[in-house]
Amino acid sequence: MQSRGLFITVEGGEGVGKSTNIDFLEQHLRERNIDLVVTREPGGTELGEDIRELLLRPRDEPVVPAAELLLIFAARAQHIAQVVEPSLAAGRWVLCDRFTDATYAYQGGGRQLPVSMIRQLEQLVQGHLRPDYTLLLDAPVDVGMSRATERGELDRFEQEKTGFFEKVRSTYLQLAGESSGRYRVVDASRPLAEVQSQLEDVCRELAACWGVRLR
Ligand code: TMP
Repeated sequence: MQSRGLFITVEGGEGVGKSTNIDFLEQHLRERNIDLVVTREPGGTELGEDIRELLLRPRDEPVVPAAELLLIFAARAQHIAQVVEPSLAAGRWVLCDRFTDATYAYQGGGRQLPVSMIRQLEQLVQGHLRPDYTLLLDAPVDVGMSRATERGELDRFEQEKTGFFEKVRSTYLQLAGESSGRYRVVDASRPLAEVQSQLEDVCRELAACWGVRLR
C-alpha cells in the first residue's frame, strides 16, 4: 500500500529568510529522490493566489480581523482539497511555506482574535490534517523587519508596527514550546551558512523519519 507523504511546514516572521531556506530544503530533499510538492499559504491554487492578493494589498479601508481570518481559511480549504490532501495521499511530500500556525501567530497573537475561534475553523476546514513537521525560522523582530524593508514596497502585513510582530514572534515560540515534538526552531539571525548547516541536519532527520515510515 502507498505510504502517505510527509507534511512539512515552514514558519517565521517577516524577513527571516523563508524563501531562501525553502529553496535550500527543496534542493536537498530532491537530491535524496524525495517526490516533493512545494507550495504556500495563503495561495497554492488559482483561487488561493487571488485571495492572497486581496489579503496582502494595502488598502485605506481597515480590514476587520474576522474577515481576514475567514479569507485565510477560505484559501486554506481550497489548498487542502486541491493540493495538500491529494499529494499526501499519493505518497508525495508537501513542503508548505506557512500553514495554520501562521494563523495562530498573526491572527491570534498579532490581531488578538480568540484562539477558540481559530481552533473551530481549523477543525472545520482541516479535520484531522495537521503538519507532521514544522520548521520555525526565528529572528529578533528588528532583524527581520530591516530585511523586509530592504526588499522594497511593504505589503499590508509588513506595514504593521513592531508590537504586532513581537506578538507574532512570541506566539510562534509559544507554539514551538507546546508542540516540541513537531517543531524545530532555527536561529535565523545567524549567518546563512550556519542556518543552512542546521537545515542539513533537518533534512537528515526528515529522511530518517521517512525511512521509518517505509519500513
Ligand atoms: P509570506 O508568505 O510572503 O511571508 O506572506 C504572507 C503574509 O500572510 C504574511 O505576512 C503572514 C500572513 N499570513 C497570516 O497572517 N495568516 C496566515 O494564516 C498565513 C498563512 C499568512
